[in-house]
Amino acid sequence: MSIRKRIAVTGGAGYIGSHTVVQLVEAGYDVLIIDDLSRSDQRLLDGLKNLLGITIPFRKVDCRNYNALAEIFSNNRIDAVIHFAAFKAVGESVEKPLDYYENNLFSLTSLLRCMQSHKVSKLIFSSSCTVYGEPDTVPVNEQAAIKKANSPYGATKQMCERILEDIEVLGIDVVSLRYFNPIGAHPSALIGELPLGTPNNLVPYITQTAIGLRNQLTIFGDDYPTPDGTCVRDYIHVTDLADAHVKALDFINQNLGNHIFNVGTGFGVSVKELVNQFEEVNQIKLNYKIGSRRPGDVAKVFADANLAFNVLRWKPRFTIKDALQHAWHWEKRIRSIN
Ligand code: NAD
Ligand code: WQD
Repeated sequence: MSIRKRIAVTGGAGYIGSHTVVQLVEAGYDVLIIDDLSRSDQRLLDGLKNLLGITIPFRKVDCRNYNALAEIFSNNRIDAVIHFAAFKAVGESVEKPLDYYENNLFSLTSLLRCMQSHKVSKLIFSSSCTVYGEPDTVPVNEQAAIKKANSPYGATKQMCERILEDIEVLGIDVVSLRYFNPIGAHPSALIGELPLGTPNNLVPYITQTAIGLRNQLTIFGDDYPTPDGTCVRDYIHVTDLADAHVKALDFINQNLGNHIFNVGTGFGVSVKELVNQFEEVNQIKLNYKIGSRRPGDVAKVFADANLAFNVLRWKPRFTIKDALQHAWHWEKRIRSIN
């Protein structure tokens, strides 16, 4: 009988982490969640229990706390780590740069030290399309020049990627996944996106407007050099993104070194198109207006995801409409139980 591999998932109580836990369990892995609940709460952990029918082991620990992490690694066999734990709000990072540098960098270095001392040599890291800033051409591939980041948040992801490049000498093999714009929720509607406070991201703002928590959505600018004047992004269903982590684990178990993959659909969708699709698929009229541009937004960014398609053998399964329907089902369910 083969022993099931155990994956430590930092940030597993958060949006992308919780969806990845589901796909990992379904793929036959044991999972241990490490999260300090600084940007999440018990609700997604409860959702995981309902969805999976088991309680996933959970430790409430700040990844910056080396001793607490080391205790977990000493008491549990861990075969690989997926590191989601980080702060992610671009605007907040501009106001509180030190919080971002401290949390995102020190949680990574503390984790790497722990992996090194406990001889855990496989890591999947959450990177972001934000490392590209405004790319010279789209679709953007992994070879594109990395310019000065637009925000402290973006800078932390660039710096983390650099750290991961440099630790190759320690014998830790890494896959960094550069996510584009994850949206949607698990089709069961038992887990989904739960932003604390006012959402920064488009889709939770749409669903919260539709349910009446927000009065009106503002579309940030319709004078960009794009077909309808609104910004273009690569929106990827969060369950598809979660699947990419399972594929990345298969890959890193067979490959040494440091590897980087874009994770997106390869298609650009404008803000107006997304809003229209939300209205159409959910049969809802959304209250929105056109406002001014949001500082720091780039006009157009979408992925060349061929490397992930060909090397990881990963492909998205869900459409944008599926994602918008699942996001709406989740919003309705979570508000009805609150
Ligand atoms: P999230 O805020 O929902 O989840 C992050 C989780 O990490 C939260 O549960 C939080 O409590 C936890 N956490 C934060 N700092 C921690 C620490 N020091 N120790 C332990 N736990 C800590 O965010 P998400 O959308 O699930 O993002 C996950 C990862 O993906 C992040 O690294 C983020 O930067 C990256 N990412 C997200 C997006 C996106 O649009 N959501 C896009 C690209 C990359
Ligand atoms: C999408 C589009 C907005 C809200 C961010 C991070 C990026 C990555 C993904 C982490 C933009 C428009 C939004 C609203 C709007 N995250 N919008 N009204 O900015 O593409 O990417 O999340 O790594 O690093 O920057 O995502 O969802 O905020 O915006 O018109 O109320 O929706 O202008 O064009 P973004 P977003």
